[in-house]
Amino acid sequence: MTDSPSKANLYERLLRQLRALLEGETDFIANAANTAALGYHNLPDVNWAGFYLCRGGQLVLGPFQGKPACQRIALGRGVCGAAAGRKTTILVPNVCEFPDHIACDSASKSEIAVPLIGGGRLLGVFDVDSPTISRFDAADQRGIEAIVACFLKNSKCDNFFASVPDCD
Ligand code: SME
Repeated sequence: MTDSPSKANLYERLLRQLRALLEGETDFIANAANTAALGYHNLPDVNWAGFYLCRGGQLVLGPFQGKPACQRIALGRGVCGAAAGRKTTILVPNVCEFPDHIACDSASKSEIAVPLIGGGRLLGVFDVDSPTISRFDAADQRGIEAIVACFLKNSKCDNFFASVPDCD
């Protein structure tokens, strides 16, 4: 897909919807669940959208939409673990060519993983998969990073992460 105005419009609309959806609610899990649902149901050509959250030094499956997925990912492993370890977004045009990709669903062909950084610490990853090769481009990266930033701004992570060891 190209960096078209319609894609920018789509993400602007999604951001407005997300702000409205999260308004007045700060619970981390409730907001994560609605963020995953909004992405899954509004981004075209996507077959999984959801969170992996830092628990006990690993990434553990959090709120998501799509088929059941692997529960635990070690830091540094797979696309999600790499995004968490490097604390940077990873965009994978073809998962078959990504060394160490974790195939939860063989239908997934491309993927984007955005790290969640809150209060100066790594909290987890937001991951979106597509059945189409090269589905995600720079416009998607900007849009999905903005969605993650909006989710983090509106959600209180202190209570949820207070009792578990840091990932980093
Ligand atoms: N493919 C991911 C695993 C998570 S699923 O795609 C839902 C990875 O390699 O980290």
